[in-house]
Amino acid sequence: MEIIHISAECYPMAKAGGLGDVVGALPKYQNKLGHIAKVVMPMYRTKFLYENEWELVHEGGQVLNSNWFKYSVIKEKTNKLGFDLYLVDINNLLDREKIYGYNDDTERFVSFQLAVCDWLSHWQHKPNIVHCHDHQAGLVPFFMKHCHAFRYQLADVRTVFTIHNGQYQGQFGWDKYYFIPAYDTWNWGYLDWNNAINPMASAVKCAWKVTTVSPSYMEELRHSARGLEAIFEYERGKCSGIINGIDVDVWNPETDNYLVEKFNKENVAEGKQKNKENLASQFGLDPNKPLISFIGRLVDEKAADILPEAISQSIYQYGGKANFLILGSGDPHVESQLASMNGQFKGYYNSYIGYSEPLSHIIYAGSDFLLMPSRVEPCGLNQLYALRYGTVPMVRNIGGLKDTVVDFGNENGYGIKMEQSSVWDIVYSTGRAIDLFYNQKDRLDEMRKYMMDIDNSWDSSAQHYLDLYQSIL
Ligand code: ADP
Ligand code: GLC
Repeated sequence: MEIIHISAECYPMAKAGGLGDVVGALPKYQNKLGHIAKVVMPMYRTKFLYENEWELVHEGGQVLNSNWFKYSVIKEKTNKLGFDLYLVDINNLLDREKIYGYNDDTERFVSFQLAVCDWLSHWQHKPNIVHCHDHQAGLVPFFMKHCHAFRYQLADVRTVFTIHNGQYQGQFGWDKYYFIPAYDTWNWGYLDWNNAINPMASAVKCAWKVTTVSPSYMEELRHSARGLEAIFEYERGKCSGIINGIDVDVWNPETDNYLVEKFNKENVAEGKQKNKENLASQFGLDPNKPLISFIGRLVDEKAADILPEAISQSIYQYGGKANFLILGSGDPHVESQLASMNGQFKGYYNSYIGYSEPLSHIIYAGSDFLLMPSRVEPCGLNQLYALRYGTVPMVRNIGGLKDTVVDFGNENGYGIKMEQSSVWDIVYSTGRAIDLFYNQKDRLDEMRKYMMDIDNSWDSSAQHYLDLYQSIL
């Protein structure tokens, strides 16, 4: 089977969050299972672009907003990622450093999708499956099914749409109707949701199959999906949840070159301690206290706004028995609150506001607990990385966190779960973490070994996707 993934992110070319990790790993595992999986994404100007060799594979043109634009497609020469990576370049739109956050993101991603459909319709042999990820690729199923320019050439190709985050839907007004290439206008309803063109809604309506990244999140979308609830209820027959895996080559404490001390489950206690000491000296913390960390985008979904209050209360209430460390960027207000606490809670708390892939690895390795009080968490990869590095996840019982973590109060449990995203729940969970660390050392040691043995690799989920593709071929 031949599959082409269309995505705005793919690690290591460009990553803002978990989408990049997933698209950087899933195709590799699909190839290992004997299929041909490729990825196409925009050609942002990132380090990876400049450090690798590329060949030109296609040049073409399309129209957006009555303007003709030229695009080119290049391919990484050496298959170093374990799959073919294609980049689409469009002058003045995609030739930028960042992935998102520009005023013309709508134009950027619509033209990216037009270019991809145009390129695919010129391929002599077609892929069997076009797998679109999130709203930046959400118009592709409509383009392929209804737009005259593509529907004939791509009629036999099946589409799958995966929702990594239902919070962002990419909607834009009908005043930009001319962004969409010619189609039979009575099909406008396949683009529309609440009087706007909504790429996520359109993909759910037009794709052959729709998935999201955990079974629990699929359920939740029917009750809470930023206005799309009814569509998930209506289309439930073609929707399913497939839990993400992790790339165990990239995330492996035994081989991870970012760590000051590599370790496995036999020497987990010592290995983690060395990495904690490194963090402690870098951030002015106490290596003999439990370290509770948070890594992630500082946004509402992650409940980053309640971290300052929850951390200060925990430090006061438990007399500074635990240390806290934050790595993240996002909402400027939350960033400045978290940064200003560095001075106030010196020796008990510190933060690094920004994005650092190396530091994230050291934190997964050197922390005792990883906090994720998310309000929404479609899957969450951080808890899976934490498990692999013997770090106890402290998570809200929601979405993918619900599906991948079992509270240590239950049989074979290994995590700390909270019911709500609230200051109280975080403070209470911190108390449980402190008790586990100081008073139940053997239990903690057992849990670490147990967690490190859990297999969350892509092996089984990659197969689930293949079965899903098979069902529509
Ligand atoms: P989301 O995709 O919603 O951000 P996930 O848990 O799926 O959440 O994935 C987050 C990914 O981004 C993980 O690989 C995590 O380590 C990484 N990450 C998030 N914030 C940062 C940061 N500030 N520095 C380094 N890595 C980060
Ligand atoms: C999203 C979700 C996250 C998920 C990731 C990869 O960004 O917020 O929960 O793990 O996509 O699927």
